[in-house]
Amino acid sequence: MICVQNVSKIFHEGTPKAFLALKDVSFDLQRGQTLILQGPSGSGKSTLLGLIASFYTPSSGQIIIDKTPISSLPEHFSAAFRRKNIGYIFQNFQLIPNLTLLENVLIPALPDKVDLSKRAKKLIQEFGLESKINAEASTLSGGEQQRTALIRALITDPQIILADEPTANLDATLSSILLENLTKMQQDGKTIIIATHDPLLLNWNAPKRIISLKDGSLV
Ligand SMILES: Nc1ncnc2c1ncn2[C@@H]1O[C@H](COP(=O)(O)OP(=O)(O)OP(=O)(O)O)[C@@H](O)[C@H]1O
Ligand SMILES: [Mg+2]
Repeated sequence: MICVQNVSKIFHEGTPKAFLALKDVSFDLQRGQTLILQGPSGSGKSTLLGLIASFYTPSSGQIIIDKTPISSLPEHFSAAFRRKNIGYIFQNFQLIPNLTLLENVLIPALPDKVDLSKRAKKLIQEFGLESKINAEASTLSGGEQQRTALIRALITDPQIILADEPTANLDATLSSILLENLTKMQQDGKTIIIATHDPLLLNWNAPKRIISLKDGSLV
């Protein structure tokens, strides 16, 4: 279960550039549930996902995942928790440009020294990227990068998937492949949070909750 309790986030806190990006946001998500986070550009969707992944810490409030107070752990522990439990699909992919597709998707497995190359190759095939497996990430198209980022998020088979605008660079066919994969993740009992304003995801015919952010607050 993910508990977001009275979370606020001020960027550049205590400086003249201080900006209140999230205001007193609270919600609970049970294990296995899917949550869609919608709201206009700048409403705080990516900020909220980043806080749940503990890329940064709340200015006030806390986030508890399966009894672990992830938002108050020292960075070393929160990073280990994230690696084990969370697959994150970034809005701008965050691939390493001069590494190959295969090397990129294997990055989350490096610190634990497990060989996931067989699983990686299977996923790469499923997403129709086998011809690009040894291509440098910098040479991939937007949709290919998006799929690579998705595979990297799935590579360690995490319990929680956080996806930031996952369909932004996909055409209709690839978006429906993504929906099939999300459905499969739901069936596998994954907890999923997706930030999006894509009607395809908002109208997705699957069990899900939708919450809306506006100017950093839930509406
Ligand atoms: N590191 C940062 N420093 C300062 N301000 C930030 C930072 N990150 C985000 N913000 C600001 O916080 C607000 C919320 O940003 P966020 O990226 O969460 O919005 P979003 O809902 O994901 O928007 P979009 O739909 O465009 O991706 C924006 O006004 C943004 O400029
Ligand atoms: Mg965003």
